Amino acid sequence: MSRRTLVTNIGELVTNEPAPGREGGPLGIVRDAAVLVGDGIVTWVGPASRVGDSGEFEASAAAGIAHSRADAAGARIVDAGGRAVIPGFVDSHTHLVFGGDRSDEFAARMAGRAYEAGGIRSTVAATRAATDDELRARLAGFVAELHAQGTTTFEVKSGYGLGVADEERLVRLAREVTDEVTFLGAHVVPFEFREDPRFGEPGSAAASARAADAYVDLVVGEMLDACAPHARWVDAFCERGAFTPEQSRRVLEAGKAAGLGIRVHGNQLGHGGGVRLAVELGAASVDHCTYLDDADVAALAASGTVATLLPGVEFSTRQPYPDARRLIDAGVTVALASDCNPGSSFTSSLPFCIAMAVREMGMTPAEALWASTAGGALALRRTDVGAIRPGARADLVELDAPSHVHLSYRPGVPLVRRVWAAGELVAG
Ligand code: NIG
Ligand code: FE
Repeated sequence: MSRRTLVTNIGELVTNEPAPGREGGPLGIVRDAAVLVGDGIVTWVGPASRVGDSGEFEASAAAGIAHSRADAAGARIVDAGGRAVIPGFVDSHTHLVFGGDRSDEFAARMAGRAYEAGGIRSTVAATRAATDDELRARLAGFVAELHAQGTTTFEVKSGYGLGVADEERLVRLAREVTDEVTFLGAHVVPFEFREDPRFGEPGSAAASARAADAYVDLVVGEMLDACAPHARWVDAFCERGAFTPEQSRRVLEAGKAAGLGIRVHGNQLGHGGGVRLAVELGAASVDHCTYLDDADVAALAASGTVATLLPGVEFSTRQPYPDARRLIDAGVTVALASDCNPGSSFTSSLPFCIAMAVREMGMTPAEALWASTAGGALALRRTDVGAIRPGARADLVELDAPSHVHLSYRPGVPLVRRVWAAGELVAG
């Protein structure tokens, strides 16, 4: 969009800004709406017939008049043709810097093999072998893919380097495309530690535990020092086959001491201590939350930690979906994210995640849309994205549909028509 833009003739505008008189519960729906944008920021939101109230144009009684006044004031007009406009999606969990492909592993899983955290190591080998420019080109492709599907804010994790130089390179490359960079050195224990006979008979439980402890020493020391300057967040995969709650705690506390915010991968493959650890440490978000007991749900409900659900993982690993209904009914703040990665969830599509959340996880279409916009923003502790309100970044998605409900009502149909990030058209 140019410096000043009027988006008008919006049939249904989802603001995520609850205010008296607005419809649609927490979505803050305004019908026959308009949005004014200046310098990449939303400056006014309301019924198109009241654009004159913005103070930026002379009073106008109808959208048609608003057009001509805006024209006269030198603003660019975008006509949404009666379609729905929603806030840009906020994808708070991706792993987009990697090399290689694991489609064979996916096919084997669909033929009955189980998902194992250890598959991560095959991506580590391919990532280490890739050049910076190869990883950069791949990343650029994913960013275009995200934009085309309506995502305007996204987090990217490291975690496929698992050595000081490689992890540093992954957070550095991620930082070229987003401010939301997460250091995930504690993804799994790399081969060179697991196979090192100094720790005992490779593969034995005792050797695996010693190797993991030694690797965590590296993560909290030299690796964190190299990565923290490029990152905003620290994360750990607290799960059987990855890191214990004690090892995860060491990583997260060291990250926090280095100035990073905390996020956790927890309770993906079974009941573990990830959720409780995340709540105790005041994490912004704990992600997956597939296997929860009542105490986990109660702890989340009493906390400021968002439960981020990643249905692409359950789709792609044939696991049971997380129970979003149970969490929402208990008062937990829920976000939806893609977890886009080559192993457990190779989708970058939040519309697909919304459709799964509605069909399989007990969410209403409104709850799923809120969770993938405002919920994602809370999971990243951001107040400038996830809603369309004066002062917010002008991240707008025009749907080829009359309402947000179509995102789950018409699953698999490419409904994203045009996308603006900070007022700039990035897709459509
Ligand atoms: O979020 N859970 C840990 N990490 C990824 C899986 C990554 C992989 O399999 O390569 C996830 O699911
Ligand atoms: Fe993940």
